[in-house]
Amino acid sequence: MEWNERVTEWEQVAASPAFQRLADRVLEAADPQPDDQVVDLGAGTGLLTFRIAPLVANVMAIDAAPAMVDRLLEISRDDGIDNIDGTVADLRDLRLPAGSRTLAVSNYAYHHLDHDGKLMALRELHRVLAPNGRVVICDMMFALSVRGRDRRIILDKMRLMARRGPAGIVRILRNAGRVATGSWEHPERPQAWAEMLEQAGLTDIKTFELTNESGLVTARRP
Ligand SMILES: C[S@@+](CC[C@H](N)C(=O)[O-])C[C@H]1O[C@@H](n2cnc3c(N)ncnc32)[C@H](O)[C@@H]1O
Repeated sequence: MEWNERVTEWEQVAASPAFQRLADRVLEAADPQPDDQVVDLGAGTGLLTFRIAPLVANVMAIDAAPAMVDRLLEISRDDGIDNIDGTVADLRDLRLPAGSRTLAVSNYAYHHLDHDGKLMALRELHRVLAPNGRVVICDMMFALSVRGRDRRIILDKMRLMARRGPAGIVRILRNAGRVATGSWEHPERPQAWAEMLEQAGLTDIKTFELTNESGLVTARRP
């Protein structure tokens, strides 16, 4: 899997001020409590896991890439943290007991799934949440359209890549090809997220547009 090759690179991205600010927003919305049993979905090298662990009972970090989980657990061991566990699993099949988690957080993971995949994953999330369990998901949230905010986000991304010169132009063209064949990432607008969360049986849904491409949704299992 591609993500197994990107552990070191991703650790640097996750340490960047932009991603630390996203983690701030997730924590603020999640309001972690000392008795929370947390699951970090698509945890990567642990951006959210390590911020939340000191505030809660325990965190289960889930990621589809074994190398990401290995690195996260290595950091946890090296730092002597005893309330973090990690496992390799897919967002659509979490392999956790029903009703076992009181808080689910996620940053920049669900856009790897297409619409049906996200719906399946949110239904699976509903299954593992305890009654009143909270959900906070941050991700790239826009649509590949030429309307309003979507258009601004896409143009900004293209300008940023074009500034890198020929390599950036190649990347724009490669991404255009991936969009055309449906193999690019699958961001969706905050409103589409609200509809998916509702279809998955969640309630108290709120959506927030963050800076640039990012968005955040919160919800609760009834
Ligand atoms: C962009 S990284 C974000 C990592 C971390 N949440 C962060 O903010 O630093 C996306 C992560 O999602 C994981 N991922 C992608 N598709 C997944 C899936 N279907 N199930 C579980 N994890 C997945 C990748 O392996 C990768 O570690």
